[in-house]
Amino acid sequence: MSEQTLSNLMQENRRFEPPADLAANANVKEEAYARADADREAFWAAAAERLDWGRKWDQVLDWTNPPFAKWFVGGTLNASVNCVDRHVEAGNGDKVAIHWVGEPDDDARDITYAQLKDEVSRAANALTELGVRKGDRVAIYMPMIPEVVVAMLACARLGAPHTVVFGGFSADALASRITDCEAHVVITADGGYRRGAASALKPAVDEAVAKTGDLVRSVLVVRRTGQDVDWDDSRDVWWHDAVDSASAEHEPEMHDSEHPLYVMYTSGTTGKPKGILHTTGGYLTGTSYTHWSVFDLKDDDVYWCTADVGWVTGHSYMAYGPLANGATQVMYEGTPEKGRWWKIVQDYKVSIFYTAPTAIRTFMKQGREIPDGYDMSSLRLLGSVGEPINPEAYVWYREVIGGDRCPVVDTWWQTETGQIMISPLPGVTAGKPGSAMKALPGIAADVVDDDAKSVGNGNGGYLVLKEPWPAMLRTLWGDDQRFKDTYWSRWPGLYFAGDGAKLDEDGDIWLLGRVDDVMNVSGHRLSTTEIESALVSHPKVAEAAVVGAADETTGQAVCAFVILRDSAGDGGEDIVEELRRHVAKEIGAIAKPRQIMVVPELPKTRSGKIMRRLLKDVAEHREVGDVTTLADSTVMDLIKGKEGSASSED
Ligand code: WTA
Repeated sequence: MSEQTLSNLMQENRRFEPPADLAANANVKEEAYARADADREAFWAAAAERLDWGRKWDQVLDWTNPPFAKWFVGGTLNASVNCVDRHVEAGNGDKVAIHWVGEPDDDARDITYAQLKDEVSRAANALTELGVRKGDRVAIYMPMIPEVVVAMLACARLGAPHTVVFGGFSADALASRITDCEAHVVITADGGYRRGAASALKPAVDEAVAKTGDLVRSVLVVRRTGQDVDWDDSRDVWWHDAVDSASAEHEPEMHDSEHPLYVMYTSGTTGKPKGILHTTGGYLTGTSYTHWSVFDLKDDDVYWCTADVGWVTGHSYMAYGPLANGATQVMYEGTPEKGRWWKIVQDYKVSIFYTAPTAIRTFMKQGREIPDGYDMSSLRLLGSVGEPINPEAYVWYREVIGGDRCPVVDTWWQTETGQIMISPLPGVTAGKPGSAMKALPGIAADVVDDDAKSVGNGNGGYLVLKEPWPAMLRTLWGDDQRFKDTYWSRWPGLYFAGDGAKLDEDGDIWLLGRVDDVMNVSGHRLSTTEIESALVSHPKVAEAAVVGAADETTGQAVCAFVILRDSAGDGGEDIVEELRRHVAKEIGAIAKPRQIMVVPELPKTRSGKIMRRLLKDVAEHREVGDVTTLADSTVMDLIKGKEGSASSED
């Protein structure tokens, strides 16, 4: 969102008050803020009480060795027991946990909590049979099918941290994650259905495993599409052979509150993805509490989060949060084809819906006739996540999808925070289109300047978190130093989120996007440096610079500028396509640049730093800004002269 649009909208000052009936029955009341301020630890301890513990903690928080936090010290629990067994024991075994909807028509399955418990127990027994022990890492590379949730919970049951890799990532990206966390077992499927066709997954796993030497011992494969797959008898095992025949009885062990639950890789400002480590007790407390409070979850709600399980939103608000709360939810395999989502809302009477602004903007473009053709009167609450929601999209979402009656909660958080941090509470806080409003009870956020001073109302700066929170990342897998450097070194004692933000006159928070070299494309984090490294690994490329340019639908789009090696001549006719394919191979199709310009030079300062700001001006078709600090101020003319000559947009 540009500063200009933002200030116009802030001046307009639209505000939606909580509906009276919601306010009267809300799970969380206004007093929660004051209660949490008065005693933050007691507040989170009460949230932890919502879970079942094997042994209760001795201490809520140990923050004696910052930034390494320990929550619920001495406590033990099992995440899968909290997500499954306890609901069955409470008499809710027949409640639907997952209404699964496959992409092909009429391909659907309802799974109750009792069935989920049996499946998870079987899978835990099968994994044990494959040699998985507490502490071992398991990589998961799967489509959006129920088995992926079963696989995650089975790992959690055993205390074997999982690392789920988004199915859209390449074999190379999968291999680097398997290697980084030394996973001996990979769980996958033959393929999945996307955009009306079966796509393959197993070949990428075969390729990735081949790249990791003899690290991977077993590959457990779900048959989803029935397509032919290469098979290595010494390593590959069908899920239906190993899991279906295993016992549905599995005695769970209670794990330490700080036992690792999972590692999720995310793009940082340098080339190598970071393995964000989440542990058990605090993570489950933070996600279940926020899922219950932010979505005001009631027993009869049908909840649907559209995120893929390969991202943190799929972990916190599809897998762990809703299941720990015993919710009934929808899980959908495919992509948002026209009308399909709204048909699902209608068919399953979805009441709480959580998606990303990029999807909303796509629907806006397609026109309201499509959603207007469905009965969506079951909806009562809408959520947004992943990137700043522009006020136009917010208002459209509220009016067209929410029939002007459903509050919108714009939720700010990160892979690192694990749980929602900034969001309205639907029965308590008003909503302003474009603002995530304020930090949740128990969370301390602020906007500061370069000297770490609060900017105060009406001003902009950097978003920071001032106090530890239960679901916070504990470290980066195998790299404590990088954890400290990345998040805690800019200002001592403050967690630097990497986002710019502004406080309005009421003190409400407006997120302004990343202030570092991380791009946000369709709500997915991509690193400029990682894509630059991918480009320069191509033999024809000498140098590359990548920027995120504003894009109406995807928020930002990847734009690359490359200098070719002398030996490559002009690179050949298809050089742009060749490089786009190369990035897809190195990282994944999501990282493919929308535009690549072959240029003779890159704008650099005298100290050799690439001035991305100027490249962004070119990519966004603007007048180029101040060039006085360039080592050679004529460079921009050369680049501008090339504009449009060697680019590809699709
Ligand atoms: C951005 C996704 C504005 C932000 C849960 C953050 C948002 C990054 C919002 C984390 C929001 C996420 N408003 N910006 N409501 N939600 N972001 O790790 O830049 O994939 O730092 O986590 O997305 O992305 P991640």
